[in-house]
Amino acid sequence: MLPTIILGLLCAALGVLGFDISCNSNLAVYWGQNSGASGSLPYQKPLGAYCDDSNVDIILLSFLYILKGTGGYPVLNFANICDYTTNSSVPVFPGTQLMHCPDMGRDIKYCQSKGKVVLLSIGGATAQLNSDAATFSQQVWDLFMEGSSPYRPFDDAIIDGVDLDFEQSSQMNIIQFANNMNQLFKSGTRKYYLTAAPQCPFPDANLGNLLAQAHVDMAFIQFYNSGWCDNSKYGLPRWPQSMNYYMWDAAWRNSSFANPNMKLYVGATAGQNAGNPSSYVSPDFFASELQELQGNYTDSFGGAMLWDMSWAYGSTPNYATSTKQALMRGSKCGSTQGNCCSSKVPNPSLSRRRRSS
Ligand SMILES: *[C@@H]1O[C@H](CO)[C@@H](O)[C@H](O)[C@H]1NC(C)=O
Ligand SMILES: *[C@@H]1O[C@H](CO)[C@@H](O)[C@H](O)[C@H]1NC(C)=O
Ligand SMILES: *[C@@H]1O[C@H](CO)[C@@H](O)[C@H](O)[C@H]1NC(C)=O
Repeated sequence: MLPTIILGLLCAALGVLGFDISCNSNLAVYWGQNSGASGSLPYQKPLGAYCDDSNVDIILLSFLYILKGTGGYPVLNFANICDYTTNSSVPVFPGTQLMHCPDMGRDIKYCQSKGKVVLLSIGGATAQLNSDAATFSQQVWDLFMEGSSPYRPFDDAIIDGVDLDFEQSSQMNIIQFANNMNQLFKSGTRKYYLTAAPQCPFPDANLGNLLAQAHVDMAFIQFYNSGWCDNSKYGLPRWPQSMNYYMWDAAWRNSSFANPNMKLYVGATAGQNAGNPSSYVSPDFFASELQELQGNYTDSFGGAMLWDMSWAYGSTPNYATSTKQALMRGSKCGSTQGNCCSSKVPNPSLSRRRRSS
């Protein structure tokens, strides 16, 4: 079998890389919080178990949730995966709360070999970015990207960028952090992405300034948990009672964002209890909503985002599959999108499972 690096080069040469930011049919899914378990769904699987599915283009590892833990290092949490708090076999780097997850490193590389982009989401419900932005951006670069550190949670795997998902105000240094991060990206040898997950009321209370002042490649807008602007209000008469993609598009058109080409993604909860149940819409409802938005907003629309993988794959029908199918109906990228390298690459998660069973 070909090493993944050669397959990656082959894909690049053939021009069939899975993820293309200019497409209007990308699907981003958060992985890591295993939120379906609270709804009695099966536990999330290791990351690599989802990467043979060509429906997902972007995986958001959630979360790096403490920016400065013991020893000045950040802290990760992926629920049941690589959890040092419940599994004493999971190693932690000395003098820190930073866990070492070699299996995830292998899975990240495997997912990338399948044309997917893997981003590390920073934030969650409680993180605050008021530690020193310059130090923290350099640390993220050294621990997860092309910098170097003896403490690399995913070893030599290199993530494709960072997602900012802060749900607290007073993110004093977030713009400086984003600018520093974008500078570091430019010094690298790969393409990196900076993304953010604002809530739907416009402008977002926590990330509005970020989107207005710093270059952000994609906004995964949470059209859930906010009441009036949620997906469940799609189709109602406009403000103050209708899902408000039209407002985000208007802002996109009137140059409200620092990146005039920032792509807007429609975020949804992939299960009844994945967020506030009143925000939830069925896969069929979401599919027709997406098709209309994709058709109407041809410039700003980038695709959809789902919270989270455990709900999407624990639902019947699979919420990720139905969403991607809807997006592909109006895709401007043709049917090859997402099918990069669907040939034989050994899946580390699967082979691990086979070994252990
Ligand atoms: C505990 O962690 C080890 C080392 O990462 C892993 O091999 C094992 O499967 C984990 N156990 C559980 C129950 O997750
Ligand atoms: C741009 O559009 C947004 C969303 O509708 C609106 O809130 C904002 O006031 C507009 N800005 C300008 C300068 O027109
Ligand atoms: C999409 O465009 C159609 C035709 O112009 C219009 O009737 C509909 O309200 C638009 N939908 C949205 C969500 O903007």
